[in-house]
Amino acid sequence: MNGFLDGKKILVMGVANNKSIAWGCAQAMEKQGAEIIYTYQNERLKKFISKLVDDENRLIECDVASDESISQAFSKVEDRFGKIDGIVHAIAFAKKEELGGSILNSTREGYNQALDISSYSLLAVAKAGQKILNTPSSIVTLTYMGSSRALPNYNTMGIAKAALESGMRYLARDMGEEGTRVNAISAGAMRTLAVSGIKGHSDLIKISQSETVDGVNVTQEEVGNTCAFLMSDLATGITGDVIYVDKGVHLR
Ligand SMILES: NC(=O)c1ccc[n+]([C@@H]2O[C@H](COP(=O)([O-])OP(=O)(O)OC[C@H]3O[C@@H](n4cnc5c(N)ncnc54)[C@H](O)[C@@H]3O)[C@@H](O)[C@H]2O)c1
Repeated sequence: MNGFLDGKKILVMGVANNKSIAWGCAQAMEKQGAEIIYTYQNERLKKFISKLVDDENRLIECDVASDESISQAFSKVEDRFGKIDGIVHAIAFAKKEELGGSILNSTREGYNQALDISSYSLLAVAKAGQKILNTPSSIVTLTYMGSSRALPNYNTMGIAKAALESGMRYLARDMGEEGTRVNAISAGAMRTLAVSGIKGHSDLIKISQSETVDGVNVTQEEVGNTCAFLMSDLATGITGDVIYVDKGVHLR
């Protein structure tokens, strides 16, 4: 295989099913020769990922709400695979109540949980991953333009994405000397499990599609290909950036 990720080992966090953006990233990177290791959130979600990946050795549990779970997961990655070349962080969560109507309905508990799982987790994962990341290496996270615009219903998750993007830039600064680049892909809206928690998500996707430059929504594959590029040594000049992969929706 002659791919631009030949010989690279990449940890992909956030595959819930075959519609997950993380699955698109994993597929695109595998096509370019990478060996993919996966984390899944819990036993319930393991059932779904096991249908996609039949090598038990490459499946490791990691609940990013728990430092212990993160630490155990990275120890297992190191024991089984040694050093790795990249991490894809495609994880977010907010309760349904945080994803509809007025931002004034946000609660302290719901807000803290959304920011913990969707933003802080990137810092926690980067910290745990630091000692097993090669030089050069790359971390990619997934964001959405609700970070900088007050979009309908996106609410607390928009605030979490703003914090995620800021955290990404600070990580890029502090991991750069060790040769780790950190970037975010701002993907266009697509139908996934996470999106189904947002009130009026079908409208969100329709509106997003109508605002693309050609009327066709971005695909999981297009986002995956950008992730593969950012993971590769073709992208060693890019760090601390948000790359929009939304077919131009952010231009409107
Ligand atoms: N779908 C979209 O339109 C869209 C657009 C832009 C960005 N994103 C972002 O892409 C990323 C992936 O989401 P998706 O749309 O593919 O949905 P998804 O539901 O397929 O993936 C979300 C993942 O987060 C994981 N997760 C949630 N809580 C977790 C926890 N405590 N520990 C470990 N994992 C946990 C879930 O298990 C799931 O695998 C998210 O950050 C999302 O905000 C999605």
